[in-house]
Amino acid sequence: MCNLSRLRSMALDSSGKQSEQQQPQQQPRVAPGIGEAGLKLRRIPNEEHEPESYEDLELDFDPALYSSLERHLPEQLLNSSRLDKARYMRDILHRYCPVTERVRIQRHREYRQKIVSSYQRLHEEIYSLDASSFFAPSFLEAVSGKSEESFKNTFVQSKSGIFTFEMLKPRFCEMLLAEVEHMERWVYDSRSTIMRPNTLNKFGVVLDDFGFESMLQKLVDDFISPIAKVLFPEVCGTSLDSHHGFIVEYGKDRDVDLGFHVDDAEVTLNVCLGKQFSGGELYFRGVRCDNHVNSESIEEEVYDYSHVPGHAVLHRGRHRHGARATTAGHRVNLILWCRSSTFRDMKNFQTEFSGWCPGCKRDRQNRQQASIKATTEVLKRRAAEKVLAELASRSSAN
Ligand SMILES: [Fe+2]
Ligand SMILES: [Zn+2]
Repeated sequence: MCNLSRLRSMALDSSGKQSEQQQPQQQPRVAPGIGEAGLKLRRIPNEEHEPESYEDLELDFDPALYSSLERHLPEQLLNSSRLDKARYMRDILHRYCPVTERVRIQRHREYRQKIVSSYQRLHEEIYSLDASSFFAPSFLEAVSGKSEESFKNTFVQSKSGIFTFEMLKPRFCEMLLAEVEHMERWVYDSRSTIMRPNTLNKFGVVLDDFGFESMLQKLVDDFISPIAKVLFPEVCGTSLDSHHGFIVEYGKDRDVDLGFHVDDAEVTLNVCLGKQFSGGELYFRGVRCDNHVNSESIEEEVYDYSHVPGHAVLHRGRHRHGARATTAGHRVNLILWCRSSTFRDMKNFQTEFSGWCPGCKRDRQNRQQASIKATTEVLKRRAAEKVLAELASRSSAN
């Protein structure tokens, strides 16, 4: 059984946030008249509006952030030119984004540019999504079926909220493994210092920093988001609009195990790429909100999963988990933390999550029981007072 007091969220370092694109080409021009006083952002995003892509512009913030924010623009601006919208949103972001955050984003952009300008790719073909050569036929078939039933037949719910399935073809796993080794050789040979995926993993690489960002976001948009909408409706009624994609490595001279934690993600995809290994099982202990993250788990929540190369686990980021020691060999996994800005915005207005957190649900039941008990007490007291009043009036009449 894991030690609950060790549980912590994977706080991301600066490499972990979605922030930059690598090859900016154009500066948004200044357009008069837009962004003047009187125009307010919508609190609820316009889900019917299809936002533009800002990836080719030279921006101070993550282009994905602009696309997400576009859904909050006032109606009058939605049909403005893309550059006018970008300028309007840039002004807003500058007003609310602290200078330190802007500096962090700028440094991370420079860091990525440095990698992309000098790293020579080994397998160029895996940097663009090619579904038929990446994915196992059963996975492709389930997603192309697009019915709830086809999803549920393929994505087996091994335990409440934990779905396992075959996903990647062996050839793709081999190519990605070779690419990761190639990246590590480059880091060593060029004496570069790279940012690790998060505060818990001391080995591994952030794929987004090496040029995989748009391929992985397409994987989220075209595959993970539609699946997650069906499997996790409580978080993915709104789409997953950003991600953090990375590789973790376990074994001799790598990380050994991973402590009990939750991910900085709405939905996590974890796929084993290989190679030969023993141990390294994932252990799960139930979904919890921030307030209940250290509460005890119940027996039905206890689940262990053994990795199989090419096979994936899909779970809520808030599903508490850890990885046991990889006792022999070398295990490499691809992890994709999928995030929803809309879910995060909505979460800021909520104080309890009884829809998905058993801790909140139990607190709510306790409050309801306490309320029923208090109401019953009041009713009993009033009934007694009524009887006493009647007795008193009868005795005074006599
Ligand atoms: Fe994790
Ligand atoms: Zn809770």
